[in-house]
Amino acid sequence: MPPSNNALPVHIQSLSKHFGAVRAVEDVSFDIKAGEFLTLLGPSGSGKTTLLMMIAGFSRPTGGSIRIAEQEIVHLPPHKRNIGMVFQNYALFPHMTVGENIAYPLKLRKVSRSDVEDRVRKVLDTVQLGGYADRRINELSGGQRQRIALARAIVFEPRVLLMDEPLSALDKHLREAMQMESASCMIVWA
Ligand SMILES: Nc1ncnc2c1ncn2[C@@H]1O[C@H](COP(=O)(O)OP(=O)(O)OP(=O)(O)O)[C@@H](O)[C@H]1O
Ligand SMILES: [Mg+2]
Repeated sequence: MPPSNNALPVHIQSLSKHFGAVRAVEDVSFDIKAGEFLTLLGPSGSGKTTLLMMIAGFSRPTGGSIRIAEQEIVHLPPHKRNIGMVFQNYALFPHMTVGENIAYPLKLRKVSRSDVEDRVRKVLDTVQLGGYADRRINELSGGQRQRIALARAIVFEPRVLLMDEPLSALDKHLREAMQMESASCMIVWA
């Protein structure tokens, strides 16, 4: 079961990211309440990926604050944030099997080996790829890769799910199932 602070919102305040002279994200503020599903639309280069990478912890903001459940998370590494992310290019590890890719975030979080096996099997069923644990990534279709990236993002039951250009390869039924089974606070970039 999710922790009780799952019900508390995400606050993004005055968030900025500059790459030299490039102001990729400039003074962005918004709140997301539990259960909300936010889609950010913007042209290529408008800073969507940069914003997500800062929320997930893969990129350090130039300025601003990110709070989840009242806690400032800007200084926490990604695996301590309890945020799942599906990357724009999926970023699956090519040298690992499907099962190893999905187990990776669980191992980072020191989940016991028996629990890892169980959770990997369950999440593979959730994305309708049961039995694919031993496949190599390069033996998957684009849509299958996307589902494995999603499985890896939700296997540790994150409180926030970030998806960069998500879901395009999923059928409608599966999309609806994902929304039911993922975090209570969901941010979707489309
Ligand atoms: N590591 C980096 N170094 C320098 N500039 C960067 C870096 N990452 C992104 N940028 C620049 O920041 C701006 C925002 O990029 P970002 O990837 O966030 O856009 P996006 O909205 O996700 O675009 P797309 O829709 O094409 O995915 C762009 O001008 C990009 O060139
Ligand atoms: Mg992008």
